[in-house]
Amino acid sequence: MNSITLPTDSPLLSRAFVFGSATSSFQIEGDIDNRLECIWDKFCEQPNAIADHTNGAVACDHINRWQEDLAILEDLGVDAYRFSISWPRVINEDGELNTKGVQFYSTLIDALNEKGIKPFVTLYHWDLPQHLEEKGGWLYRQTAYAFENYVDKITRALGERVFSYATFNEPFCSAYLGYEIGVHAPGRVGRANGRTAAHHILLAHGLGMRVLRKNVPNSEAGIVLNFTPCYPNSNSDADLAATSRADEYINQWYMQPVMEGAYPDVINALPKEDRPPVEDGDMETICQPLDFLGINFYTRLHYSAPRERDALFFEHSHRGPTTDIGWEIYPKALYELLMSLNNRYSLPPIFITENGAAMKDELAQGEVKDYDRIAYYNSHLNVVHEAVKNGVEVSGYFAWSLLDNFEWAEGYEKRFGLVHVDFETQKRTLKHSALAYKALINSRN
Ligand code: FCB
Repeated sequence: MNSITLPTDSPLLSRAFVFGSATSSFQIEGDIDNRLECIWDKFCEQPNAIADHTNGAVACDHINRWQEDLAILEDLGVDAYRFSISWPRVINEDGELNTKGVQFYSTLIDALNEKGIKPFVTLYHWDLPQHLEEKGGWLYRQTAYAFENYVDKITRALGERVFSYATFNEPFCSAYLGYEIGVHAPGRVGRANGRTAAHHILLAHGLGMRVLRKNVPNSEAGIVLNFTPCYPNSNSDADLAATSRADEYINQWYMQPVMEGAYPDVINALPKEDRPPVEDGDMETICQPLDFLGINFYTRLHYSAPRERDALFFEHSHRGPTTDIGWEIYPKALYELLMSLNNRYSLPPIFITENGAAMKDELAQGEVKDYDRIAYYNSHLNVVHEAVKNGVEVSGYFAWSLLDNFEWAEGYEKRFGLVHVDFETQKRTLKHSALAYKALINSRN
């Protein structure tokens, strides 16, 4: 497939719908000597933490090449660019602003606005300053207040030039992957740790939202959550019950506190010592009205009844067909997710803040004919269209990612970019998916 095609009368093709692309600081910036150390720098030093034993020291060298990357965004014709601010680049150890670091983002934001590209900023995309981790990181309640201070300082500096601020990207990944099963930085394990980290991140989200309302009332404010819809492996009662526990533990654990100020029922299935350290008033702080909800979607998973004592469910490995990172391609799950969230919650407008695919790209004669990635985008955008037709308010869509980049524990081998990056020379080459995305964007009236 070499094009992305939506029905000609699709609401996604109206000018009001935002098409963008997304990146994050640690995955593209490099230039680590001009910022404080973060938990991912440290994690990359652990033997075997990263599949190809690489790190973020250079990544896409975006700090030095941002103008070239901006020119690519302009060429694609995107309405918006979603990127994250590196906390350790903009705040010093004493909690004060690092003006040089702030200058980078300030210049980028001005340049985006000048080109008519809306800046969508994520305040936390996983790169916690290492000195805060040494005090306990997200296991330490005070880190939420350190985040509040960072949000206060950075929003005073950048102000309402930023169209949209998201407090966090995917609290699930930071808390569960980072503190419960240890496959992401900082590599800690244990259920109590995972639930504690999640709670402090959610608390930080609520504190951050209050600061956003005060400092930048005319910018949009919200959060980005990832969802991996849970499907039963069979229709047995035991598998159905395990699947609903999995959904609560993995997905609703973040959604329900943010939207309704309560943890899902699965909390009662946990032994007391594994439950999050909720203090008086926390749930009210976490549950703040949002201007938007960012949804990141890639895949789904299947569940059945637990096979070990103390487990809540058994998670099956991905079914096929899969992308190069091993995740099942199943666009219908995105449709069902949007419909079910819309039925269950009273939702603010939604942005699909990430969606995309790692594929085995081949660069030959200056071209990457990634027709498989185009097919992925095509099928997923078409289910977003279906959901909108059926009443879900989706305001925009961001392709993950603008550039091939440092894919966390997978290193540089898994390529998600619309744009190919040669990590030896830093040469950027638009893949056919970039051309297809550009054609879609340009096809609007
Ligand atoms: C998401 C992350 C993003 C990227 C994609 C593939 O979980 O937010 O940084 O790694 O997955």
